[in-house]
Amino acid sequence: MQSGGDYSNGFHGELDRVEEKQLPGLSSFGRAKRRSTRGGAHDPRGGLTNGFMVSDQLGEQNPLETQKSPPPCTDFDVAYFHSYAHVGIHEEMIKDRARTETYKEAIMQHQSFIQGKVVVDVGCGTGILSIFCAQAGAKRVYAVDASDIAVQANEVVKANGLSDKVIVLHGRVEDVEIDEEVDVIISEWMGYMLLYESMLGSVITARDRWLKPGGLILPSHATLYMAPVSHPDRYSHSIDFWRNVYGIDMSAMMQLAKQCAFEEPSVESISGENVLTWPEVVKHIDCQTVKIQELDSVIASYKFKSMMRAPMHGFGFWFDVEFSEPASSPAKTTSATSVASGSSSMTMSPSREGNQKKRSNPSDALVLSTSPEAPPTHWQQTIVYLYDPVDVEQDQVIEGSVTLSQSKENRRFMNIHLEYSSAGRSFVKESVMR
Ligand SMILES: C[S@@+](CC[C@H](N)C(=O)[O-])C[C@H]1O[C@@H](n2cnc3c(N)ncnc32)[C@H](O)[C@@H]1O
Repeated sequence: MQSGGDYSNGFHGELDRVEEKQLPGLSSFGRAKRRSTRGGAHDPRGGLTNGFMVSDQLGEQNPLETQKSPPPCTDFDVAYFHSYAHVGIHEEMIKDRARTETYKEAIMQHQSFIQGKVVVDVGCGTGILSIFCAQAGAKRVYAVDASDIAVQANEVVKANGLSDKVIVLHGRVEDVEIDEEVDVIISEWMGYMLLYESMLGSVITARDRWLKPGGLILPSHATLYMAPVSHPDRYSHSIDFWRNVYGIDMSAMMQLAKQCAFEEPSVESISGENVLTWPEVVKHIDCQTVKIQELDSVIASYKFKSMMRAPMHGFGFWFDVEFSEPASSPAKTTSATSVASGSSSMTMSPSREGNQKKRSNPSDALVLSTSPEAPPTHWQQTIVYLYDPVDVEQDQVIEGSVTLSQSKENRRFMNIHLEYSSAGRSFVKESVMR
């Protein structure tokens, strides 16, 4: 039980104190971001070169476009697309077998929706998912990417003799033109904590521009979860280490170490043993119906009951995505075997209580899970650490709310506002995932 000792991890109503302690200019470290939007470097080209097919300029607009004009392509977006021109990021994603094999399996499982049909791949990267769709018998695949990686995708498509089927469009989905409706949208859009990177908005744009009513979107659903976590090893490795360094008391370093280690969310792998209780749903997304505005700010309240006595070091976040056909689809009743892969949420055994929801997967649809208990992925889990641990007893209630919002500074960044209280004390942790 918390003793009323001095917790310096941000007191409710005393945010100024927390901000004072932060050291501007110190970036987080030890974090290999898959999709770095870091740096915000201005691309002197002011757009993309090497354009071919329909679009060769970011932000290009069709004067005949009757819908709302697309969002401007900012310098941050240009830097974001630039980061995807690097081979390493694609290598990492493709080598993530849980990710790539689940997508391939989802495409093959939905072959009856794809064969002879028109597909758009939102953010095709190297073209891998477009090629899987062509292999599944698609009549035509529009492979769209605003990054220069599209140039490579075009070469890969050519080398595989698929140029008659896969049309690579080098530009933003918000800007390129496709002169027909499509039957299927496929996209691998998920960022850390699901929403970091804000790519889902582009899938929604593609859906609203081109998808036929009742068309298929893969993945069809996404769910973000959170749970309190205990991670004594991480804390002692980064913080307690300073207590005794070659016999020298360096505990004066500890405050700075906490700032540097815990100011930003940390992408790392934890195990089910680090999790104090069942996760709760922060946001469930149905890709058929979700609106862009819903993603500006996601607010969820939670109430956990710790299943053990432990120091709580923060909150872990992870997600899963599901690949299922639209509810109204006639093929739904006739579709081929459904395969459950991984788990939605977690598969820990104790029964759940109260309002804590374990997302079941009633349709037995294919699921790509990034839970601590699922096979590892390059997304790992994201931990929002408290600056100091909170000791919790078994059955102690931990409650509060979390708000995830797009940063005004750069919509690719995510602001995280976490309120939590336990044993009569309340705290706030503000952080930015950049
Ligand atoms: C996570 S990668 C996925 C690449 C590939 N589909 C795969 O699965 O390996 C996302 C890709 O989407 C592209 N992208 C993101 N937003 C986009 C947009 N609005 N228009 C076009 N491409 C976009 C990025 O440049 C990046 O190459």
